[in-house]
Amino acid sequence: MQHITVIGSGTMGNGIAHTFAQFGFEVALVDIDTAALENAMVIIAANLDRQIKKGVLTEVAKTETLRRITTYTRLAEGVGRADLVVEAATENETVKTKLFNELDGLCTKDTILATNTSSISITKIAAATGRPDKVIGMHFMNPVPVMKLVEVIKGYETSARTTSAITAVAKQLDKIPVEVNDYPGFVANRILMPMINEAIYTLQEGVADAEAIDTVMKLGMSHPMGPLQLADFIGLDVCLSILRVLHEGFGQPKYAPCPLLVNMVAAGKLGKKTGTGFYRY
Ligand code: NAI
Repeated sequence: MQHITVIGSGTMGNGIAHTFAQFGFEVALVDIDTAALENAMVIIAANLDRQIKKGVLTEVAKTETLRRITTYTRLAEGVGRADLVVEAATENETVKTKLFNELDGLCTKDTILATNTSSISITKIAAATGRPDKVIGMHFMNPVPVMKLVEVIKGYETSARTTSAITAVAKQLDKIPVEVNDYPGFVANRILMPMINEAIYTLQEGVADAEAIDTVMKLGMSHPMGPLQLADFIGLDVCLSILRVLHEGFGQPKYAPCPLLVNMVAAGKLGKKTGTGFYRY
């Protein structure tokens, strides 16, 4: 594998492009929004500078990494040579199924199509293509250049060959891949989101204030960040939509989103990105 196409140049896409390029892959970065692509290249350069300051990267490596990334606004131009496509576009089922249907027609028959989705069924995305055996989840964590985990999600028809190719490429990026099956929330969000939801119930019921809840989880459970602060960082709208996927997918009341979370999202208090969530930024 040498040529990687990353689709979507937002928070995750720029980190994924950065990481592949840093480890020697030629990267085509595709976004429908020119400004997003320009912004991504600025962020990648700044993050590479941060790695230089930490002593993990040289100036020469930075130049090489940036040289390996080419940006495109047209999908057809960006995917021609791809051995692997990693899709990190907006979390929306219609956007993703449409993209995968187009990719299936544009890519060579051997190209593996991976998605970085947090919560959409891999099996459903794969069904939009004629190659469900070559469709897989490659779920990176934010910030991508720093976080070691890649959750590798096998859809209903993902082949063992596709899975081992993705596991191998994740290792080439100095990541630790973990294989899981395609059920709502996979593993990471199935466990994380109910914990965040319970923290919000704890706050709603007045058991303790936000800072107290986060302190208990940080000091008591050795979590680097409390669940409410983490929810603010992820975005409360994102947390709500993942909880809805779990609730609908399993049909169990234990996944029902806390009414306080629903209200905060309705009020536009989405966490760090809007300046207010459980904390002020
Ligand atoms: P974002 O909103 O920062 O970026 C999405 C980008 O996709 C935008 O620049 C948008 O212009 C572009 N886009 C939308 N439709 C497109 C299309 N048809 N073709 C090309 N580009 C298109 O989103 P973010 O946060 O980077 O999330 C991307 C994916 O990664 C989502 O599936 C999300 O669930 C997943 N994810 C997000 C994490 C996070 O912490 N933000 C963590 C792990 C996964």
